[in-house]
Amino acid sequence: MNDNKTNINWYPGHMAKTKRLIIDEIKNIDIVYEVIDARIPYSSKIKDIDNIIKNKQRILIMTKKDLCDINMTNKWVKYYEEKGYNVILVDLKENKDYKKIIDLTHQITKNIQTKRQEKGLNNKEIRALVIGIPNVGKSTLINKITGKKTVNVENRPGVTKNLNYLKTDVGITLLDTPGILWPKLDEEKVALNIAATGGIKQEILNMDEISSYILNFLATYYPEILKEKYNINSSDIMEMYEIIGKNIGAFKNNEILYDKVSLKVYNDLVGEKIKGVTLDIWQ
Ligand code: G4P
Repeated sequence: MNDNKTNINWYPGHMAKTKRLIIDEIKNIDIVYEVIDARIPYSSKIKDIDNIIKNKQRILIMTKKDLCDINMTNKWVKYYEEKGYNVILVDLKENKDYKKIIDLTHQITKNIQTKRQEKGLNNKEIRALVIGIPNVGKSTLINKITGKKTVNVENRPGVTKNLNYLKTDVGITLLDTPGILWPKLDEEKVALNIAATGGIKQEILNMDEISSYILNFLATYYPEILKEKYNINSSDIMEMYEIIGKNIGAFKNNEILYDKVSLKVYNDLVGEKIKGVTLDIWQ
């Protein structure tokens, strides 16, 4: 059953191909970096990731720690840890935070190196697959770990041209996911959460829908942010539009310029002017 009542309709045709490529390559991978956004720890997770990565070791990397509501996100961290995942919460805009990932990778893959040492072999480069939906910080993470050097693509026979292995100086080779993977598309809230945090191209979004969603959400769960940011005490959507419209001058002949207000609210959240919000509420 499809419960998706939003106008967000962006299921890409090449997803199946991407999945197939990863499934074919997964045998060569030592560890998976599953990257999700700390503001949407449920919505940004790829739906059938476990079928793709099978029983590979994984680090669940929650990016954008600096933007989330840490108390709410920590409930999700606990939930995933209880499921047995290694979870790391990072701010990739901070200089050194990503190093936690490198340390944990070596810790988790220690058994691989120990076995090699027992056979008199040198340590191997650990192969890490970076996987996640758009906009969660995969490229930022890769740039951090590779030190933003020119990407060095490993030529390995048998590896399809679509897979890029990127060398680093830290004993880890990164495999960037080719193409795009999507989360739980059939849930309306998931689509709205991803849209509200900038994961879907703006051109295909209905701004009024996304903005009303953001304002209603803030009124319900973060009224103090509404008050601080827009001086709003109300939870009435029309009143909220009116107040913001007046504040930003998007008000003409007693008419609210809805489009402008919607764009302002969307840009405030996506442009990191609204912080401390986690859109997946732990119930
Ligand atoms: P992707 O490859 O998964 O699609 O994501 P990408 O690295 O392009 O990151 C998407 C946006 O998220 C980028 O912002 C990036 O800077 C930002 N970002 C990634 N990690 C963090 C984090 O931990 N904290 C914060 N605050 N932002 C993060 P952008 O506006 O698209 O580009 P720019 O700011 O780098 O110019």
